[in-house]
Amino acid sequence: MALTIAIDGPAGAGKSSAAKGVARMLDVDYIDTGAMYRALTWWMLEHGIDIDEHDQIAAHAHDPDIKITWDPDQPKIVVDEQDVTAAIRESRVSDCVSRVSAVPAIRSRLVDLQRAMVAQSVRSGRGVVMEGRDIGTVVLPDASVKVFLTADVEVRAARRAAEDRVRDPNSNADHSDAALANLKDRDAIDSTRVASPLTMAADAVQIDATDLTLDEVIAAIASLAAQRW
Ligand code: DC
Repeated sequence: MALTIAIDGPAGAGKSSAAKGVARMLDVDYIDTGAMYRALTWWMLEHGIDIDEHDQIAAHAHDPDIKITWDPDQPKIVVDEQDVTAAIRESRVSDCVSRVSAVPAIRSRLVDLQRAMVAQSVRSGRGVVMEGRDIGTVVLPDASVKVFLTADVEVRAARRAAEDRVRDPNSNADHSDAALANLKDRDAIDSTRVASPLTMAADAVQIDATDLTLDEVIAAIASLAAQRW
């Protein structure tokens, strides 16, 4: 069996950067499941679907074709042949993604897709780091290593605001306040939804990244992988 690492945690804890770093260090595949939920949300917005109508979202859950790369150095996501890698990070998507990802039909489609991707990665003998909210609890309950990555909400918001400033340097928007509000909103929805809420798996190791550098987080996860694998 190949190595499978599940990294879950709230928005902005640094899961993507840590998962990419671990994938590079251990030379395994990298899958960002949040990007998949964002891609479906982008598609729903593009097609004028009312985000608050769960039945409408569920009816279209299987319509978009989604392709995602596994390479931590070239993360790319394509929906219906359109590259949406940048578009899925826009605030209109961030503001709606928690509501779309709470719909069970959306989750079951993406969980099936995610398990199929991991199976392919394991069959090829490469191994995988997968990050999201329900990887250790639902998608990969038998993952070799499970990490629950957290950080104080103010620290998470400051990191997100800095990323938003890099992405949108000409905007006068107050990125700090917007990031804090968006994270608190998403944390609340992601943790309280009925379908696979964000919770720590009983056998996960919690890493609090509040006072750690990215390299320290990556080293901690790699060392867990070395111990358990
Ligand atoms: O990791 P992210 O912030 O890009 O994720 C975007 C949203 O997708 C997040 O608010 C909750 C949802 N999500 C989820 O419900 N389950 C996952 N495995 C990954 C993300």
